[in-house]
Amino acid sequence: MPQFSETELTAAVIKSFDETPNPRVKFLLQELVKSLHDYVRKTDLTFGEWEYAIDFLTRTGQKCTPIRQEFILLSDVMGVSMLVDAVNHRDREGATETTVLGPFYVGEHKEVPHGTDISSSLEGERMFVQSRATDLRGNPLAGIPVDVWHADDDGFYDSQKPSYATHGPSSRARFVTDADGRFFFRTILPCSYPIPTDGPVGEMILQTRRHPMRPAHVHFLVNAPGYEPLITHVFIDGDKYLDTDVVFGVKDELVAKVEKRTDPKMPDGKPASAPWHLMTYEFHIKPGNGAAPKPMVAKATEDA
Ligand code: BEZ
Ligand code: FE
Repeated sequence: MPQFSETELTAAVIKSFDETPNPRVKFLLQELVKSLHDYVRKTDLTFGEWEYAIDFLTRTGQKCTPIRQEFILLSDVMGVSMLVDAVNHRDREGATETTVLGPFYVGEHKEVPHGTDISSSLEGERMFVQSRATDLRGNPLAGIPVDVWHADDDGFYDSQKPSYATHGPSSRARFVTDADGRFFFRTILPCSYPIPTDGPVGEMILQTRRHPMRPAHVHFLVNAPGYEPLITHVFIDGDKYLDTDVVFGVKDELVAKVEKRTDPKMPDGKPASAPWHLMTYEFHIKPGNGAAPKPMVAKATEDA
């Protein structure tokens, strides 16, 4: 009967995966064993700490629902999501930078006409967003879907509120680019907001004296056939959390100057009331393949 020393045990567990038929799965599992065993040895993990970790992961799983992914949130706040993003986008060749998808890509992204106010039922300072999608040479990408979503003036996404079931999506839509790759819409100026703190991940953030805030941003998913799906945000310059985003998602190139305007008309010639804001951003998309993520399903109906 084998009796293993600390290091012999690691070697034995690695060897136990030797017959895994898929070489990539074998590699992933054996490397995981190495990293986990190293962690236990380096930290001299106690039984109490091991039990705490098991309970934490159990509670993380229990907090998940069809539209709430506490494990993704855990990956986000530990910087794992941004690291996976970084190793998969090493060579941008001038393409727009990527960032986390986040847990609020849910529900319906219905195509609406350019110029639509996607936050018409919400209070807040008005913002006009004008944008364009091109390839890496600056040629327009025409007729491609662009999903947009962002939080409201109180820092909540539509799907986090009970009104989603009765009133449907808001601050969330799909635009299809015109012949010149352009699209534009109206909305409200989003604000910085906390990630959900009513679960184990939020608890960990607060107990470790980190703040739970994300700087104000609008999410974009540009999905052109024959190109890499672009998952990104445009952040609003001047936000006080730009340097300390709880999910480490900010990149300089994704910070846009949002101009405060007083012109009586917005860029599409329609009247503007009160001062408004103008966000301008152009996306450069890299050739490639790959499926864009599908939104998690949050039905905007009473049976949701
Ligand atoms: C978001 O931007 O929607 C988000 C991203 C990561 C974690 C929580 C929220
Ligand atoms: Fe967000």
